[in-house]
Amino acid sequence: MLCFLHLESLDFKSIGLLLSLVVFLVIADYFKTRKPPNYPPGPFALPFVGNMFSFDAKQPHLYLMKLAEIHGDLFSVSLGGQQPVVANGYKMVKEALVVQGDVFVDRPSGPTSERLYPHNAGLVLSSGPTWKRHRRFTMTTLRNFGLGKTLMENAICEEIRYLQEEMETQTGDPFDPKVLFKNAASNIICQLVFARRSDYSDDTSPKVVQKLVEALYLQRTVWGLLYELFPGIMKHMPGPHNTIFSNYLDVEDFIRKEVERHKEDFDPNNPRDYIDAYITEMQSGSSDTEGFTESNLVLNSLDLFLAGTETTATALLWSLVLLIKHPEVQKKVQSEIDTVIGQSRPPSMVDKANMPYTEAVIHEIMRIADIVPINVPRVAGRDTTLGGYFIPKGTPLWTNLSSVMFDKTEWETPEEFNPGHFLDSEGKFRRRDAFLPFSAGKRVCLGEQLARMELFLFFVGLLQKFSFSTEEGVELSLEGEVGAERTPLPFKVFIHTR
Ligand code: HEM
Repeated sequence: MLCFLHLESLDFKSIGLLLSLVVFLVIADYFKTRKPPNYPPGPFALPFVGNMFSFDAKQPHLYLMKLAEIHGDLFSVSLGGQQPVVANGYKMVKEALVVQGDVFVDRPSGPTSERLYPHNAGLVLSSGPTWKRHRRFTMTTLRNFGLGKTLMENAICEEIRYLQEEMETQTGDPFDPKVLFKNAASNIICQLVFARRSDYSDDTSPKVVQKLVEALYLQRTVWGLLYELFPGIMKHMPGPHNTIFSNYLDVEDFIRKEVERHKEDFDPNNPRDYIDAYITEMQSGSSDTEGFTESNLVLNSLDLFLAGTETTATALLWSLVLLIKHPEVQKKVQSEIDTVIGQSRPPSMVDKANMPYTEAVIHEIMRIADIVPINVPRVAGRDTTLGGYFIPKGTPLWTNLSSVMFDKTEWETPEEFNPGHFLDSEGKFRRRDAFLPFSAGKRVCLGEQLARMELFLFFVGLLQKFSFSTEEGVELSLEGEVGAERTPLPFKVFIHTR
C-alpha cells in the first residue's frame, strides 16, 4: 500500500498512522479468519489473500490432492473470502455427503452467488426449503416428461440420428467433435425445457452454454476470487470478473424470451415442457409454491442448461479420447453391440442388461474422465465433527471427487484405464461404491438418470455406426482443462463408417 504513495512527502505522523492502519487490518483479518480448537490443519496462509496465490486454478483437484498427502484426508485452505475444509478419499467424502448428509446439504453463499442468484434462486446453488421444493418439482417434472419412460428415450434416439447424419458428412478429414456433441447434448435439455431442438447449423444454444462455462471458469481465477474478497471495490473495477455477470445476464435474457413465447400460447391442460409445467405450478396458488416466481423459472432453466449440457458433451468427448487410445476396447464394445443389437435397429435402454462389457467401459470412462473433480461446494448447517475434527456451522465443504475416483484403497489399478474394475470374474457388470461421478447423498446430481440414459444411448449409437481414430503419430492426452468441468484438450478424430 505504501508503494503507491510518495513517501518523501509524508511526515512521521502520517507514516505512523498508515502503519497503525496496516497493523489494525492484519489483526482484524487474524480475528476474522481465526480457527477454533481442533480445526482441520492446512497450509500456512498469508493475511487477506490466504493461499490464493499458490492455489492452482488450472488443476485445482491435483493441488488439493497434494495438500491431502501433507495434511491428511481432511484439511483447510484459505482462498481470500472463502475458507473451505476439503474432504479427500472415498471414506471421508462418503462420511460427509452420505453419513452426515443432513448436516452438509446446503450450499455456501458468497458475493458472487448472491449477485448471480438473488433471493436463493436456482437449482444448483439454492438452499433450505426453497431448494427442496424446486428440486422435488423438477424431478417430478423430468419424470412426467418421459424420464424412465420411452418418451425421453425416443427423443434421445432421434437426436442420435441427427448426430449420425451430421457425422457422416465429416468422414474424410479429421475434425474436432466438440461443437457437434455440445449441440446434441444441449438439444436434449432444449427438448425438456423448451420442447424444441435446434439444427446443428444454429449455434445459439451452444453459444449460450459457452457463456455459462466461461462464467464458471472465471469464478475460479484470481479475478473471481478477488471479487469474492472485495465485492464492493471490484464491482467498480474493470477486469474479466465483470464477464461473469454480463454472461449470466445474456443467458437470462435468452431464456426470458422463451418464457414470454410460452406465455403467448400457454395451455394449462397441455403442458409441453418444463416452462409450461412451472407456469402451471406458479398459477396453482398451492402453499407449496412459495418461491415459484418467473425469475426463479429463468434461473432454474439456466441451471438445467448449465448442469446438463457441458457435462454430457464432455463425457462423450472423453469417450472418444479413451476409445481411440484403446482400440482393442473399441472393437470389443462394437462386437457386443453387433451381437446384442445388430446394425439395423437403434439401441434401447432394455439392451443395457445384456451388454455388461459396454456398461463397464462407460463406467470406466466416467471414472477416468473425472468430469466434476471438486464437486459443487456444500456448507455445514450446524456444528459437527468430521474425521475427528471440529467443523463449525457455516464452514464451506469441498469434496474432492478426483481423490475418490483415483483412491488407491478402492481401485485395483487406479491410474490405469481398466474396464475390469466394473466386471466380476464371470464377466458380469458389478457396481462399485467409490464410483461417484454424480456425487452422492441428498444433493446427488439431479439429472443422473437422464445423464446415464444419454450416455448409454449416444455411446452405443455412435459405435454402432462408426469407428474412431486420430491422426497418425498423434498421442491423445488424458490431461484435461479444468473450468466448470474437466474437459479433454482439443483433439481431432477420423470417423470411419462401419
Ligand atoms: C455426465 C453428466 C453429468 C455429471 C458428471 C454430473 C455431475 C453432477 C455433480 C457432481 C453434481 C453436484 C452434486 C453435489 O452437490 O453433490 C451435479 C448436480 C446437478 N446436476 Fe448433474 N451431472 C451430469 C448431468 C446432468 C444432467 C443431464 C442434468 C440435467 C437434468 C444435471 C442436472 C444437475 C442439477 C440441477 C444439479 C444440482 C442438484 C442440486 O443441487 O440439488 N446434471 N451434477
